[in-house]
Amino acid sequence: MIVTIDGPAGAGKSSIAKRVAQRLGFEFLDTGALYRAVTLGAIRAQIDFQDVDALVQYAKQVNLRWDGQRVFLNGDDVSDEIRSPTVTDAIRFVADVPEVRHQLSRLQREIAVGRDIVTEGRDQGSEVFPRAECKIFLTASAQERARRRQKQLADAGRPMQIEQILRAQERRDEEDRSRPVGALRPADDARVIQSDGMTSEQVLEDALRIVEEVRRRDERHAPRQPADTNSTGGDS
Ligand code: DC
Repeated sequence: MIVTIDGPAGAGKSSIAKRVAQRLGFEFLDTGALYRAVTLGAIRAQIDFQDVDALVQYAKQVNLRWDGQRVFLNGDDVSDEIRSPTVTDAIRFVADVPEVRHQLSRLQREIAVGRDIVTEGRDQGSEVFPRAECKIFLTASAQERARRRQKQLADAGRPMQIEQILRAQERRDEEDRSRPVGALRPADDARVIQSDGMTSEQVLEDALRIVEEVRRRDERHAPRQPADTNSTGGDS
């Protein structure tokens, strides 16, 4: 079973997707980490971000591996380095290129094949796994996302003005929404969780309830197993 969780930056997708996967005993895939790793690799390889052909060539030959928790670039664990502002600021040059998205979507499908998995990103339900059994779109207002981010930063000893966070977030939202391919949008059949005013526990329980509903619905609609004609008929 594939569960997709999409939504804008700062909606808390990663932590919820991880916890949903844990509770269900499913694998977890953070697709943003793959976009981040390719971006870091392109920076390290000093590729000119305006040179789309060079970016595509790079994305075709780079060796990316996801082990369920961490991401490896040419064998190197880059899970921490991909979170740097330098990478975040450059991602759009990579994520806007349809052929790069094509490569990464293929890798995402390869990772998911035959698995029970929760995948998290922007285009999982709409583009990469259009036939996923369960699709969730997790969102929150810009103010709420910025407030949560401010708290996270303060807890990490990096206090920041809310206006500054809102400005950066608006820029990322606009980039995510206006991408020519793989733009952020809920799939037509996604269930939306609007998480303003909810605790992360409440969001988690809501997401698990949605998965449970889908499972029950699919069980009801699953074709019945044909009667076992070889049965000896028990004690009748
Ligand atoms: O989820 P995140 O913030 O780590 O993602 C980083 C960037 O990668 C995000 O700004 C847009 C891009 N991305 C994407 O284009 N498609 C995805 N499925 C996941 C992420």
